[in-house]
Amino acid sequence: MTTRQRPRTLWLGRWGFVLAATGSAVGLGNIWKFPYMTGEYGGGAFVLVYLACILAVGIPVMMAEIAFGRRGRGSPIDAIRRVVRESGSGAWWSLFGWMAMLCGFLILSFYVVVAGWSFSYLWKTLTGGLNGTSVDDMAMIFAANNANPWHLGFWSTLVTLLTMVIVGKGVREGIERSVSWMMPGLVIMLALMIVYAAFSGGFSDGVAFLFSFEVGKLSSEGLLAALGHAFFTLSLASGAILTYGAYLPDQRSIARTTVSVAIADTIVALMAGLAIFPVIFANGMDPASGPGLLFMSLPLAFQAMPLGTLFGVIFFTMLSMAALTSAISMIEATVAWLNESRGISRAKASWGAGSLLWVISTLAMMSFNVGSEWTLAGKHVFDWLDFLTSRFMMPLGGLGMALMAGFLLRHEIFRSELNLTPVQHALWLFMVRYVSPLGIVLVFIDSLGIVTLDLAAQWPWLLAILVAITAVGEMASPRLKRQLSE
Ligand code: PFF
Repeated sequence: MTTRQRPRTLWLGRWGFVLAATGSAVGLGNIWKFPYMTGEYGGGAFVLVYLACILAVGIPVMMAEIAFGRRGRGSPIDAIRRVVRESGSGAWWSLFGWMAMLCGFLILSFYVVVAGWSFSYLWKTLTGGLNGTSVDDMAMIFAANNANPWHLGFWSTLVTLLTMVIVGKGVREGIERSVSWMMPGLVIMLALMIVYAAFSGGFSDGVAFLFSFEVGKLSSEGLLAALGHAFFTLSLASGAILTYGAYLPDQRSIARTTVSVAIADTIVALMAGLAIFPVIFANGMDPASGPGLLFMSLPLAFQAMPLGTLFGVIFFTMLSMAALTSAISMIEATVAWLNESRGISRAKASWGAGSLLWVISTLAMMSFNVGSEWTLAGKHVFDWLDFLTSRFMMPLGGLGMALMAGFLLRHEIFRSELNLTPVQHALWLFMVRYVSPLGIVLVFIDSLGIVTLDLAAQWPWLLAILVAITAVGEMASPRLKRQLSE
């Protein structure tokens, strides 16, 4: 029995999905986090491990998510319920859809605060507010920016408003239209930044920092960080990719689009490193971590360079656009669900979801000022949102997607959605059944601090576990064999 759902909305253009999904994937994670992690965890060696994580975990799980979305044609909750039902399994599996939707929503509630920093620095650079500042001034400006809830709240509210206006306009008129100019614009600006960095005098140092192959620096911490980042950077298990997949036309190849998005995302992350580090090194600065890199060191470096204001504006425009195209994808699942399942118009759904988002993001924003004392187990609201989503909901959601796709559902569904050659399909199945779950469980164990992992020493054990679970998994269930021969 094939119960293909009829789509209500589809991307209009040939590149609609790829642009929107790349817009979702390319965000603060690429420009802020990836370059720093690369330098920190061993340059080229880390890049290789990261690529392996994208290939072994990111791409297979993303393909499963898109297949869920396209088959079920709806928000994560509805799509998963439909696909699970089609396979004769219990509807409670759609709890994974609820979790994904909530995860995207909660990520957005702290993401808008960081995106707000970017918008406010764009404004400061444009209006000359950073001119002539020293290192200490720069740190003070950042602290003052955060200390004032009205100021910080203004920028995160602006990001929330922009996000809701775009999403409220709909999939084609809002999301597709905005990404179709923002994404090419972003790549052009990034390319300009690299040309600028190439003339900064620090290019070779930047390249060395990013790509020098230091296997010794590659700790198991770096490995697990690479795996966790693969999830975040590809926007997995947060409802974004699944919902965008619901608008993908039937004739498009899921494998090909997934690979395009993963490649584009990785290229942008590497380009961001090439744009940032040469400028930092040319000015004799340390590649500091976290907010300090983009909001203190980099503006300071720009100031010391010719055409620095112009390139500062270009950089923060690019960062703000990257954040915005990710933000819209995080709330699309919620808006789609309110619209389809609750019959609320898109515009109303978007304002409703946006209002709740605003309340939570305001609490997150207050972690930096009036709410700095509101902590639970030593964490602020902002830190809790980050912790719960990236350490808990994303890995758990990814595990659910992989296991549902690998074991639970009728095989014919994925065979027809993915349309791979038998060898490719077997490889995909091996990844979602065994490799991805094992990787995710490792990240989980590590982040909960249950066991201290030392992958360099323990890898033979892990390999043995992988072989064992594969053998048991393939032998144990007669149902699997039946599915395979269906
Ligand atoms: N991929 C985005 C980034 O790298 O910044 C973050 C993200 C977007 C996470 C959308 C989750 C999501 F649903």
